[in-house]
Amino acid sequence: MKKIGILTSGGDCSGMNATIRAAVRTALRLNLEVVGFRKGYAGLMKGDCIQLDSRAVSNILHRGGTFLQSARSAEFRTTEGQEQAVAALRAMGVDGLVILGGDGSLCGALALHRLGYPVIGIPASIDNDIPYTDMALGVDTALNNIIYAVDCIKDTASSHARAFVIEVMGRNSGYLASVAAIATGAEYALVPEREFDLAEICQQLRCRYEEGRDNAIIILAEGAGHAQEVAHSIKDAIGFETRVTVLGHYQRGGAPTVFDRLLASRFGKKAVELLISGQQGMMVGLSCNAILATPLEDVIRGEKRPQDEVLRLAEVLGI
Ligand code: F6P
Repeated sequence: MKKIGILTSGGDCSGMNATIRAAVRTALRLNLEVVGFRKGYAGLMKGDCIQLDSRAVSNILHRGGTFLQSARSAEFRTTEGQEQAVAALRAMGVDGLVILGGDGSLCGALALHRLGYPVIGIPASIDNDIPYTDMALGVDTALNNIIYAVDCIKDTASSHARAFVIEVMGRNSGYLASVAAIATGAEYALVPEREFDLAEICQQLRCRYEEGRDNAIIILAEGAGHAQEVAHSIKDAIGFETRVTVLGHYQRGGAPTVFDRLLASRFGKKAVELLISGQQGMMVGLSCNAILATPLEDVIRGEKRPQDEVLRLAEVLGI
């Protein structure tokens, strides 16, 4: 292998730049040439890339987002799109590819592998719903962002005796909502994995209110319901003054935490080592603090990360 490529795909997350830097530095030490494809699979199909030398990746470790930019490409989901990408890679003399992204992006990586092209995937998604890794890249930074915001909101909630419904990301995953609720001492975490009875929640809030606890924090995963509806129900049922805060894309940005910088560095190095050692079609992952590799076939077939332990912990703590 003489030349490898790297790309970031799907929703961005903090730590992507640090991963690119680690992968490039590892590759350069092994005398490999590296190119970075812009805008994920869309750029890959067009052969839109830049040369990545040591200078190109300096001063990016601490920056959120991805300087290669990211995108979701409908065209790449077709067999023609995937074949076009492999043809572009071969024409450019790129011998293997490191791909950072969430479940959709890793499905794309598997498709390239099935076409006989060498790839290694890196789990990067704030949802933390990718099998075979304890943590995906960007989760820790997103949680720290959320916790900072919720702590701020708690201050004003108590000053004004209000209930706040705070919506966090997670269309199909309640990981961010559950962990944020545990870490901030929120009253409720409403998640897609667990049914909830809004009337019952209102009843409990009323009891709390009558006992003199006049503020509350409800953290809602975006896939579990509509924040305004939850807020209206609380207001209508108990007259508790209620406000909504949707944290939105604020959660995905910002400087990566130490945890994410280290994870990024470990993932980036391991991905390049696997690629050149011939162990292709794998995804790197964190397991019991070791960096392991799992076949992409197993990752894509595997069950979404079960959130049972976190959900049980939340229940025991009265959330
Ligand atoms: O998958 C990561 C994620 O941040 C989800 O939590 C969220 O639902 C989605 O991406 C938002 O996507 P977009 O940036 O395209 O609005």
